[in-house]
Amino acid sequence: MSKLSTQTVLSVHHWNDSLFSFKVTRDAGLRFDNGQFVMIGLEVEGRPLTRAYSIASPNYEEHLEFFSIKVPNGPLTSRLQHLRPGDPIVVSKKPTGTLVLSDLLPGRNLYLFSTGTGLAPFMSVIQDPETYERFEKVVLLHGVRYVSELAYSEFIEQALPENEFFGEDVSRKLIYYPTVTREEFRNQGRVTDLITTGKFFEDTGLPPLDPALDRAMICGSPAMLDDCCKMLDARGFKISPHIGAPGDYVIERAFVEK
Ligand code: A2P
Repeated sequence: MSKLSTQTVLSVHHWNDSLFSFKVTRDAGLRFDNGQFVMIGLEVEGRPLTRAYSIASPNYEEHLEFFSIKVPNGPLTSRLQHLRPGDPIVVSKKPTGTLVLSDLLPGRNLYLFSTGTGLAPFMSVIQDPETYERFEKVVLLHGVRYVSELAYSEFIEQALPENEFFGEDVSRKLIYYPTVTREEFRNQGRVTDLITTGKFFEDTGLPPLDPALDRAMICGSPAMLDDCCKMLDARGFKISPHIGAPGDYVIERAFVEK
């Protein structure tokens, strides 16, 4: 049996010159946990060319949504960026991944550290009602170079608190902290520096990170993951060693070489 199904592109949204999102049909049999990824791609010269993509939509939506960078000479993204509604796209049938609530020990506040397209899995996690049942505060940090890269910010700030089922939880619990490193913005600096210097805690009034109480998920570039892991390890946080073994935090590479 094939590991890939062919789906259809429903819509495409270009955030700026380098980032875009797209929605595709979902196989009726596809089940996934919020935060997981699938392989997606295109048929190129008769063969599937696929890469791992976090699912940005929550698992109760009828469609699947993905958030992608456009790599100018990237084998896949140089093609994917030209997708149009109605185009075929292949999607693997077996979602997997480490950024799942079930691999976190119980805790007080959940920190979601992301840079760039590392935001994608957390778009799914912050639309999961269970996230708000399990944690008192859900803190989403998104670090980007330029303001135009703050994809989904309007959705997070305006639409999500209006959600008819869990909007009230979002209003009370979700703290969204976008930050920009290479131009003026209300929050500036790398997510790691904002934590280390304490600026983030001054701005939000949250208590310092505490491994007995706080839990975290991290998604970004390899360098960002390294630095975030060091930051948490230095504070006594223990990483989940593998899928199915809960820890204080979980990590996933934002899949950039595309
Ligand atoms: P900076 O502008 O200082 O490099 P990128 O597009 O390179 O993945 O970067 C996305 C965002 O992540 C940028 O704001 C960038 O800041 C930041 N960043 C890059 N490397 C790290 C790191 N090691 N730790 C934390 N943030 C990082």
